[in-house]
Amino acid sequence: MRKKLVVCAAAVSLVFSMAIAGLSIAADPGPADMTLTTQKAKKPSLFPHKKHQETIKCGDCHHGMDADGKQVAYAEGQAIGKCESCHNESLANAKLNSYMKAAHANCKTCHKKLSKEGKKAPTKCAGCHPKKEGEKKGTK
Ligand code: HEC
Ligand code: HEC
Ligand code: HEC
Ligand code: HEC
Repeated sequence: MRKKLVVCAAAVSLVFSMAIAGLSIAADPGPADMTLTTQKAKKPSLFPHKKHQETIKCGDCHHGMDADGKQVAYAEGQAIGKCESCHNESLANAKLNSYMKAAHANCKTCHKKLSKEGKKAPTKCAGCHPKKEGEKKGTK
């Protein structure tokens, strides 16, 4: 009887510590589906976040910045800022100093590479930026 109780307690505490470990390493995955927009919101873009997370590492898209303005590689559990909070006019690198430039460099580069390999990922504007009603009809 006592032996059973000890084994049982050990099992409970094992499950418990696994649950705590699980909580401390699992990063907040953010929204499953998003509509991304710059502050100007001229060309909203569809982004199935969760679908990407199934095959792509967080650090392929997310990273941080140090006090000198240098890129810092993604670390599990780090705070995740909006792209535009860093990718704006204040960024020294003119090739990446807007949300559009950073997004196109990230999203389009990967999609283009994949489509060259014969895989399916949108590379045309409308694949990410759904057309507005007027544009579809050609009336604008
Ligand atoms: C293919 C690129 C990509 C991958 C992979 C990815 N994310 Fe994201 N994630 C984004 C983009 C883009 C946003 C929207 C950022 C913005 O609004 O400026 C975002 C937003 C988020 C947000 C919300 C941030 C906020 O405050 O609005 C969280 C949290 C997040 N991601 C966590 C993760 C985690 C954790 C992983 C890995 C399990 C991951 N993401 C994988 C691109 C990605
Ligand atoms: C905390 C600030 C910060 C945030 C938030 C941030 N970036 Fe960056 N990012 C940087 C810095 C700094 C660089 C390096 C710029 C340079 O080369 O001078 C960089 C470089 C890049 C690059 C080129 C290098 C590479 O890794 O491919 C891309 C593409 C990029 N960011 C996309 C994004 C996207 C997309 C998001 C949002 C999901 C994002 N960044 C969020 C600061 C940030
Ligand atoms: C590292 C590679 C990579 C990056 C970076 C990436 N994607 Fe993708 N994307 C994929 C792959 C792979 C697919 C195909 C997924 C599938 O159909 O299963 C895809 C598919 C898509 C689709 C079509 C989804 C569907 O259901 O047909 C959209 C829209 C999309 N991506 C938007 C974006 C946006 C916006 C970004 C940048 C914020 C981005 N992607 C960044 C790899 C990437
Ligand atoms: C793989 C996805 C993807 C493709 C393909 C793509 N874009 Fe984008 N684009 C984005 C993302 C993500 C943003 C930043 C969020 C937003 O405003 O949609 C963006 C932003 C923009 C902006 C800035 C909008 C603003 O409010 O300032 C313009 C303009 C734009 N794209 C035009 C284009 C054009 C034109 C094409 C085709 C030649 C194209 N994009 C193809 C993902 C894509």
